[in-house]
Amino acid sequence: MSATIISGKDVAKDKRTQLKKKVEEIRSQGVVPKLIIILVGNDPASLSYIKGKKKAAEETGVDFTLEHLDEGTTEATLLQLIDRYNNDNMVDGILVQLPLPAHIDETKVIEKISPEKDVDGFHPINIGRMMTQQDCFLPCTPAGILELIKTSDINISGKNAVIIGRSNIVGKPVGQMLLNEHATVTYCHSRTKNIEEFTKQADIVVVAVGIANFLPGNAIKEGAIVIDVGVNRLESGKLCGDVHFEEASEHAGHITPVPGGVGPMTITMLISNTVKAAEKRARK
Ligand code: GUN
Repeated sequence: MSATIISGKDVAKDKRTQLKKKVEEIRSQGVVPKLIIILVGNDPASLSYIKGKKKAAEETGVDFTLEHLDEGTTEATLLQLIDRYNNDNMVDGILVQLPLPAHIDETKVIEKISPEKDVDGFHPINIGRMMTQQDCFLPCTPAGILELIKTSDINISGKNAVIIGRSNIVGKPVGQMLLNEHATVTYCHSRTKNIEEFTKQADIVVVAVGIANFLPGNAIKEGAIVIDVGVNRLESGKLCGDVHFEEASEHAGHITPVPGGVGPMTITMLISNTVKAAEKRARK
């Protein structure tokens, strides 16, 4: 059996076209969707992610401002800047790029962002709203994963979903979101024994551990949907996921590639959250 490849690149492209149309509508009502990204320091990975976010904003017509602060910026200055944007009625979304320098408390910063502008979906209020199935901003990578699973035309309800990884940004929320869609969810992590005993029962497997080729093909149930969140750079310079792609493709029904799977969806969902905030402003 050879799996159908779920192209995040194609799904993201379609989604961005739809978002562009929505932005045109919102702009015609006199509201310009606006996203602020705050970066402290010069982390090369962060600079590269921000470039992608800027490109997506430009493609869809979302106004984009980067506040690039010095590495030595104090926590108090950063909190003040967030507060200024919290109170700026022309701003829809605020994202503080992580990681922050060690002298700044990440939790304090995330909690300072108004939950109504928290387009990352990292604020505890948004996490709580997600758990209790209220209207909220969903975190971008898990939201993108759900969109990818939905393109495969399976009904999530009643399916066994196994999540490998329990990070606050991906593993935990994606499990919660699949539970909200009525899947039976099992979390596996670094202390789980015999992970393959769980994955062999799984109709949906989401792998987010950050270890190249962690999941072998023989751990996958025939026909399963396999979502690979990992982005690992091999010594050869080649990118690879957390799933052994060639092996897994022989067993899975659907599988996401790396690159071109989950990655392009994350930024697209950030724009989607910003547009959602702007739509609310336009309705006011
Ligand atoms: N750093 C790496 N990924 C992310 C993300 O999704 N949001 C923020 N704020 N920082 C990040």
